[in-house]
Formats: sequence, C-alpha cells, structure tokens
Amino acid sequence: MKKILVTGGCGYIGAHTIVDLIENGFDVISADNNSRSNENVLDAIEKITGKMVKNYKVDLCIYDDTVAIFQENPDIVGIIHFAAYKSVGESVKKPLLYFENNLNSLINILKCADEFAVPNFVFSSSCTVYGNPDVIPVTEETPMKAAESAYGATKQMGEKIVNEAVNCNGSHAILLRYFNPVGAHPSALMGELPLGKPENLVPAITQTAVGKLPMMKVWGNDYPTKDGSCVRDYIHVCDIAHAHTLALHYLLDDRNKTNCDIFNLGTGDGLTVLEIIRAFEKASGVKLNYEIGPRRPGDVVAIYANNDKAKSLLGWKPKYNLQDMMASAWNWELKLKEDEKLFKASNANLN
Ligand code: WQD
Repeated sequence: MKKILVTGGCGYIGAHTIVDLIENGFDVISADNNSRSNENVLDAIEKITGKMVKNYKVDLCIYDDTVAIFQENPDIVGIIHFAAYKSVGESVKKPLLYFENNLNSLINILKCADEFAVPNFVFSSSCTVYGNPDVIPVTEETPMKAAESAYGATKQMGEKIVNEAVNCNGSHAILLRYFNPVGAHPSALMGELPLGKPENLVPAITQTAVGKLPMMKVWGNDYPTKDGSCVRDYIHVCDIAHAHTLALHYLLDDRNKTNCDIFNLGTGDGLTVLEIIRAFEKASGVKLNYEIGPRRPGDVVAIYANNDKAKSLLGWKPKYNLQDMMASAWNWELKLKEDEKLFKASNANLN
C-alpha cells in the first residue's frame, strides 16, 4: 500500500480525509501536535475503518522533529498538508502568530519533501485567497484580490511557496481551494470541534440549537444579496475529503498538466446565511434563536465556486446535498451532547 503523510491529521478535514484515504487503500500516518485538535479522533477513525493510525505529535515548526518523521518513514510517496491555524478572526488580532506558524511549518515540510524526494504534495488552500471577487462564480483563473486577513495571506503565500518549491525540484503539487466545509461523517463518530465559541456559521447554528449557546447573531442583513445576508458555497466535509484521494490518484497516475495544479472545491451553489438557517431548521425540526447583528469585519459579500475543473480533471462529483450537510452537523452536535452527559455521569460517580 502507498504510504501518505497527513499533517494536521487530527483536525476536522484532516481526520475525514484519513478515513477516505484508508477506505481507498492507502496506508496513512499523521503528524499533529494537537495544539488545536484532539488525538481522540484517532479512536473514531479506528472505529470507522478498523485501522489505528499512528500520529507523530510534533510541532512542524521544529525542523529536527519534522525530519525525524521522514527518517522513520522513508516510504512516504505523498504528503497532504493541512496543519495550520485557520481562524480568520484570530489571525486579524495575531498576524505574526499566523505567519510564523503557518509558513514555518509549510517550509519545513517542503524541505523534508525535497530532501527525501517525496514526489507528490497536496496543499490545503482556501477560497479566502480570492478576497472579495468582482465576478462570481470564481474559477481557478480568477485573479486573487488582497487577502482580507492574515489567515488569507498565509494561504496566498503558501500557494506561492508550494509552486516555487515544486517548480524547482520537479516534484508535483495540487492546491485545493476549499469553499465552506460543513457537516460531519455520516456515522456521527466525528465532526467539527471548534475551540471555544464557534466563529463559523454551522457550528454556531448547531450549538445554539442544542442549547450550548443562548442565541446566535447573523452578521449583517444589509448586503447587496437576495436577502441581505452573505453568500457562501457550503460543501460537505466528506466531499472535500474524497477530493484529496482523487487528487493523489491524479498525481500518482501522472495526469497533472503542470507541476502545480489548482482546483476549486465547492458545490457551485451560492447560499445566503438566512437560507442556511432555514435549511437547518427544516433538517433538524428545531426553530433557531437568532437575531440580526452588525456586519463582521473582513467578511466577503458573496463567493461561490465554478467547480468544472475538479469535476472534469479529478473526476470529482460532490455527492452530499444541503439536507445531508445540515442533518449530519446536527446529528454530530447531538452526539457531542450525549457524550458530555455520559462523561459528566461517569465523573459524578468519581466524586
Ligand atoms: C460564513 C458566513 C458570516 C457565524 C470560512 C473559514 C475559512 C475558509 C472559508 C477554509 C459569513 C456568517 C458566521 C455566525 C454569521 N475555509 N456568520 N454568524 O468567513 O466564509 O470562512 O470559510 O479555509 O477558513 O473560516 O465562514 O462560517 O465564519 O462565515 O452570520 O455566528 O456566516 O458573517 O457571512 P467564512 P464562516
């Protein structure tokens, strides 16, 4: 079996991608320092796939610790690099933390890929690189506007760094630009685990609906959109995960057109915040407690994907619809609440 290193393998998209890779016959190892994730997700991966994945709990900003992974695994044929901080809001407050962490870890991984001649590299990028596009839907050729946050800037710079690295050593890379990943694995054994108060829309909705949050805010309904709230392209995390497996096959089969190909990963449907809330209420049967708040600084008015390239070249076809996205997110939130009750009950016995 071909061995793949997944950095950030204990994170939301990383863990779902590991499941898809294993189900498609790959041998997977993870590198994640769990600064923003929890190793428990490896148990969920084992329950789903039957495989216990080894996680190297290292800080990829430390070169010597990173290179040790490759010394122990000289048979790595591909790397999927997720490991990065990803909070848009936090990055505005702490830009240097984001540049230091996201770029140093990327450079170390690329140095190791070069040193150990790992020929295939998939980079976790984001629709954030487009900034506020003049024309939507965006294609991979849509020019990048100024990034609205340090997080977006690290993705723009990250793409450039990957492109330069592979063009000079002849290896191959794919940049995957995710739109808005949402939902959870159908088993409800894993899903999004925001740290602290959720910034992203769907976890804010599900935590409000389950009673963890008293109410949620819709950040602005005075935008030039159909109902005044922002438009995004929401895509199921399992569809995003499968795109990584297809991207690796594309590279392993030498089908890449250039040393560094770019693909948009979105459904191609733009939906407003209020439409998402309605879809959630329909899927869960729960009336959501929300109110309209002020616009959130850094928000893009509207963006959604033209996904023709991923469909035609990767053979990618999103298979989960909006109902699946909302229902799986809700089932996961209900499972978390049940686990918390069980956890409290077992701790109560200890007191
Ligand atoms: C979506 C919409 C908010 C919370 C995300 C990721 C980023 C990148 C792109 C991968 C906005 C509104 C939100 C709330 C709200 N993905 N909202 N109330 O900003 O598009 O960026 O996708 O790399 O990493 O962060 O997603 O879910 O934060 O916001 O009204 O409580 O929902 O204003 O219009 P965003 P988001």
